Amino acid sequence: MQSLTQSPTAPDFVQNPYPFYERARTAGPFFYWQDYDLICTPNAAAASAIFRDRRFGREAPPELARPIAPHTAPFYAVEAHSMLELEPPRHTRLRGLVLRAFTSRRIASLQGDVESLSHSLIDALPDEGPFDLISSFAQPLPVIIIARLLGVPEDMAEQLLRWSNAMVGMYQARRTHAMEVAASDAARDFSEFLRSYVEQRRKTPADDLITQLIAAEADGERLSTDELITTCILLLNAGHEATVHTIGNGVKTLLETGTVAQVLSPDTVPRVVEEILRFDPALHMFTRTAYETVEVMGHRFERGDQVGLLLGATNRDPQVWDRPDRFLPERPDKPNLTFGAGLHFCVGAPLARLELQIALPILFRRLPGLHLAAPPRYADVYHFHGLERLMLAR
Ligand code: HEM
Repeated sequence: MQSLTQSPTAPDFVQNPYPFYERARTAGPFFYWQDYDLICTPNAAAASAIFRDRRFGREAPPELARPIAPHTAPFYAVEAHSMLELEPPRHTRLRGLVLRAFTSRRIASLQGDVESLSHSLIDALPDEGPFDLISSFAQPLPVIIIARLLGVPEDMAEQLLRWSNAMVGMYQARRTHAMEVAASDAARDFSEFLRSYVEQRRKTPADDLITQLIAAEADGERLSTDELITTCILLLNAGHEATVHTIGNGVKTLLETGTVAQVLSPDTVPRVVEEILRFDPALHMFTRTAYETVEVMGHRFERGDQVGLLLGATNRDPQVWDRPDRFLPERPDKPNLTFGAGLHFCVGAPLARLELQIALPILFRRLPGLHLAAPPRYADVYHFHGLERLMLAR
């Protein structure tokens, strides 16, 4: 197997990881990424097979679980109950409870909220001079919507962002001790807030997700209080982080490729959004661990072996996509791996799609002269492929 070196924090790579993915692709379905000490795949068929194969999972086998450093204990205490980190049967129970509350009817009912919030965020933009679309639009929109869906006060949005940003620092390549402490502090404060908020909400049920989860908790066996808290944190964090960056990457792509007109027509919006999700996704790497000996496309994994699935690369696999490096909203509809696949397929995919399909047309219809006011720069991290700011002018 070919071994490649590429620092995940090198500025060139962060700004444009795709040339490295192409170099990796020539190595075959799998290559060894030295900097991560990890076997990775840029191959869509291999990644899709691994996502769907129950002999691989997110949880490390017990004998390989790493000891938890005391200063990170509060972070892992939250993670211990996260469906994203669990496998069946706990995963099935937690995911089932969330899906029961996360119905397509409830998601569709958010359409009016996403519309009116998009308009009010645009109303608040400055009349003149450049503004940052990330902080003024891409961030508040999904944060406020997920807060509403759960039933958490909207004026908490800024605080939710701070906790969430600190917590996802744990996924950063080459994280520092200070980042681990910040993530753990945020996990502890976020849990404490939710614990007392849930206590309050037990007395004031409403038509929201927290109320439904509290009802599941009251049933006893089905949801413990710790699971309830972690599920709320997971939904609040996962419910905006990737969407923020998808809005940013999408607006950048539409402006740079001169394809804004395509997002204005209701007929083409869904396909433009799928192409945005394929072309420049916000999350580029997810890992899986083999639970037994498995062979995938000629590579033999042993129990405990890890593999990195490079979604940004799989979405540009020429065996699946014609001219993969071109942004072509008119391309035939095919599934990409941006929301994962299999057991852990993103619970929030319908909500993220709804937000993108509504917010982007409103933005460009309201601001027809929107243009880049400065060259966009991706934030200097690999765990989120997203812009640090997106300076635009009307
Ligand atoms: C464009 C936006 C989004 C992207 C690209 C995205 C991507 C993903 C991916 C790739 C996974 C699977 C991870 C794995 O298999 O290891 C995932 C899982 C998940 N996502 Fe999303 N997501 C987005 C938006 C959302 C939203 C809006 C929510 C919540 C409302 C959400 C909640 C979740 C949850 C709860 C899981 C865990 C599912 C499980 O473990 O069964 N996501 N997401």
